Amino acid sequence: MKAIEINNLNVNFNGKDVLKDITLSLDEGRFIGIVGPNGGGKTTLLRIILGLIKPLSGQIYVFGKLPEEILRAGNIFGYLPQILKVEPNFPVRVIDVVMMGRYGKIGMLRWPGGKDVEKSMECLSMMGVAALKDMLYGQLSGGQQQRVSIARALAGEPRILILDEPSTGIDVVGQEDFYHLLKGLQKKFNLTVIMASHDIGAITTYVDEIACLNHTFHYQGNPLGALDEKVMTNLYGKNVDVLMHTDICDKCERLRRE
Ligand SMILES: Nc1ncnc2c1ncn2[C@@H]1O[C@H](COP(=O)(O)OP(=O)(O)OP(=O)(O)O)[C@@H](O)[C@H]1O
Ligand SMILES: [Mg+2]
Repeated sequence: MKAIEINNLNVNFNGKDVLKDITLSLDEGRFIGIVGPNGGGKTTLLRIILGLIKPLSGQIYVFGKLPEEILRAGNIFGYLPQILKVEPNFPVRVIDVVMMGRYGKIGMLRWPGGKDVEKSMECLSMMGVAALKDMLYGQLSGGQQQRVSIARALAGEPRILILDEPSTGIDVVGQEDFYHLLKGLQKKFNLTVIMASHDIGAITTYVDEIACLNHTFHYQGNPLGALDEKVMTNLYGKNVDVLMHTDICDKCERLRRE
C-alpha cells in the first residue's frame, strides 16, 4: 500500500516558491531520508504531509486519503518537530511528555489510564531511557531529550513516523546507534519513516531511499545514487562544502567497495 502519494505539488510563501513540482510515491514500511541545504523546504514538505500547510496546487494523499481526513482520524502520524524547546525548570516529567503522545489515541475527553502509562513506559524502554521517567524533561541533556521526544512520537502507535533533523544534539557515536534504532523500529512495526536530515553521509546505510530537496527534487531513489558529485553540486551549488564533500566521496567509495 502507498503511505504517501504526492503529485505535482507547489507551495508558495509570500510570492516565493518554496516547493516546486514535488512528486513523491512512498510505499508503506519504507524509510526515506530527505536531504538538502538550509531553507531548501524540508520542514515545509514534512508539514505538508502532516496536513499542517495547504499547498498552492497539486495533490497529496496519505494512505489514499486527504491530509485533513487523516488529521481528523488521528493516530496516523508520530511527529518529532525540528525544535522542541522546554524551559529547564518547566515542571513536566519525562513520563508526562511521553503520555502527551497518547492523546491522539486517548481522545481529549478521557483521562489516561493504565494502558497509556504501560505503552508510554514501553516506548521509553525501547529508546533506552526508561530510568529517566521521573526526571524533569527540561533538565535532560539534548540527546536524552531527543530520545524521550521519539518515545513520545511512538507512544501514539503511529503508522508513519516523521522526524525533522532528529540527530541534532546527538554525538557522532550516538548517531550511528540512533539510526540503527530507527531501522529496528521500522522493521519491527512495519513503520513508514520519513526523516529530514543534513547528514547525507551518515544516513545512506540506513535509509531505503533518498530525496534531495532544494525547492524541487534534484534526485530521488537509491541512497547510493545520491552520493554523486553532480547531484551534490545541483543541491548545494558549486561551492559545496569541501569537507562534507570529501566525507561523502570517501563514504561513497567505501560503500561501493563493500
Ligand atoms: N510559515 C512560513 N511563512 C513564510 N515563509 C516560510 C514559512 N515557513 C517556511 N518559510 C520559508 O520557506 C523556506 C523553506 O523553509 P524550511 O523550513 O522548509 O527549510 P528547511 O529545508 O527545513 O531548512 P533547515 O535545513 O534550515 O531546517 C525558507 O526560506 C523559509 O523562510
Ligand atoms: Mg527544517
